[in-house]
Amino acid sequence: MKHRTQVGIVGAGPAGLLLGHLLHLVGIDSVIVENRSREYVIDRVRAGVLEQGTVDLLCAMGVAEGLHARGLRHEGVYISFNGERHRIDMAELTAGKAITVYGQNEVVRDLIDARAETGRPLYFDAEDVGVDALDSEQPLIRFTHAGSQHEVRCDFIAGCDGFHGVCRPSVPEGVLEVFERVYPFGWLGILAEATPSCHELVYTHHERGFALFSMRSTTVTRLYLQVPPDEPIANWSDAAIWAEMLTRMTTSDGWAPNIGRITQKSVTPMRSFVAAPMRHARLFLVGDAAHIVPPTGAKGLNLAAADVVVLAVALNEFYRRGDAASLDRYSSVCLRRVWKAQRFSWWMTTLLHRLPDETAFDHQRQLADLDYLTTSRAAMTSLAEQYVGLPWEVALLSSTLGS
Ligand code: FAD
Ligand code: DHB
Repeated sequence: MKHRTQVGIVGAGPAGLLLGHLLHLVGIDSVIVENRSREYVIDRVRAGVLEQGTVDLLCAMGVAEGLHARGLRHEGVYISFNGERHRIDMAELTAGKAITVYGQNEVVRDLIDARAETGRPLYFDAEDVGVDALDSEQPLIRFTHAGSQHEVRCDFIAGCDGFHGVCRPSVPEGVLEVFERVYPFGWLGILAEATPSCHELVYTHHERGFALFSMRSTTVTRLYLQVPPDEPIANWSDAAIWAEMLTRMTTSDGWAPNIGRITQKSVTPMRSFVAAPMRHARLFLVGDAAHIVPPTGAKGLNLAAADVVVLAVALNEFYRRGDAASLDRYSSVCLRRVWKAQRFSWWMTTLLHRLPDETAFDHQRQLADLDYLTTSRAAMTSLAEQYVGLPWEVALLSSTLGS
C-alpha cells in the first residue's frame, strides 16, 4: 500500500503524539507509525513530572482535560540529606511557577484519544519499520502492518522513535557527532498502592545511595532507589525493596513513605547522550531519539515536548509561507535548551548519588553542596527555575496556534 503525507512520524511516544496533534491543529497532515501495541505504549511506566511549559502546551493544544482533573500541582520540592528534609519553595522563588505530577502514560493515553478523534492515521504494531531516501525531496517510511507492506512518501520525516529507534542509526555515518556519559548506577523504580505520605517530591542523599519519593495520584506512591546499573530485578524481593527504601528515606522527624502492595518494579540504567545536529536533510530527530538525560532532573519528557514546539512552528512557517529558515534553525534552537537540561540533569545526578569511586573529599564536597543549596536563596532560586523549566517559546506557539 502506498501513502502520501506531509510529515511522516516514526514513534508514538510523547514526542510523536504531541507533534502529530500540533500539526493537526495547524492543518498539516501526518502519518504516525509505532512498532509496539497501543496497550504497551500506554502501560509503559516512565516520567511523572511536567514542567510549567509542558502543562501550558497541553492546555493550549486542548488536550488537558485529564491533566486538570487528575494532575497534582506541586509548588515545592524537598531535598533530604543527613536525615533532614529541606523544602525549596519553587513557586515563591519563580514568581508562581510549579511542576505538575501527571503520569507519562496518562499523557500518552490522552494524546492517543485525541489522535483517534482527528481520524488521521496512527499505526500500532508496525513491523520492520525503516526510513529511506533521506537525501531526496520525498523520503520514505516503510513498514509491514497486519501482513501488508506499506510505503509512506513524505515531505519530511520526524524521528520520534526514542533512544533505541531506527531513525538516528539511518543517518549516514559521519554526519552526527555523539556526546555521551554512562553512569555507574541505575534506578530501581516501583509503583505501590500506598497513599503518598508527603504531598511533594523528596530527593534523598543517603550514604547507602540516592532515593526518590514521588507519586502518581492520591492513592499511588512512586519510589526509586539507586542500584548498580545492571542489577537484576530478581535480586530484590518486595520486602528487601521496602527495607532499603525506609533505611534511605526515613528522616529524623519520623517521616517515611507509606508501605503498600508493589504493582510494578523495574531497573533503568542512566546515561547522558546528545547526537548533533538534530537534523539530516529532511529527517528531524526529536526527543529521546536525539538526546537522553539521567532522570534525576525530571527533564526527558519535557525536553521532547520543547523540541516538538520548535519543529511544529518551523513546519507551519514552511507550509504557510514557504519559509525554511526556522527549519534550518531547528537543531541549533533545540540544542541550546538540550545542553542546559543536560547540565542540570548531570548536576542533580552527581549532587545526589553515591559514586563507586568517590573519595572522602568528594563526599564532603557533596554534603557542602547540599548545605549550600538548601540555605542560600540564590542557590535555591537556581534549582527552582531549572526544575520548573527554563522559559519556553510559548509566544511562538500561541501565535502559531492562533494563526
Ligand atoms: P519514547 O517515549 O521512547 O517514545 C518513542 C516511541 O517510538 C516508543 O513508543 C517506541 O515504542 C517507538 N519506537 C521505537 N522504535 C521504533 C521503530 N523502529 N519503529 C516505530 N516506532 C518505534 N522525563 C521527564 O520529563 N520527567 C520525569 O519525571 C521522567 N522520569 C523518568 C523515569 C524513568 C524511569 C525513565 C525511564 C524515564 C523518565 N523520563 C522522565 C524520561 C521520559 O520518559 C522520556 O524522555 C520520554 O519518554 C521521551 O519521549 P519520546 O517520545 O522522545 O521517546
Ligand atoms: C519522577 C521521575 C523522575 O525522574 C523525577 O526526577 C521525579 C519524579 C516520577 O516518576 O514521578
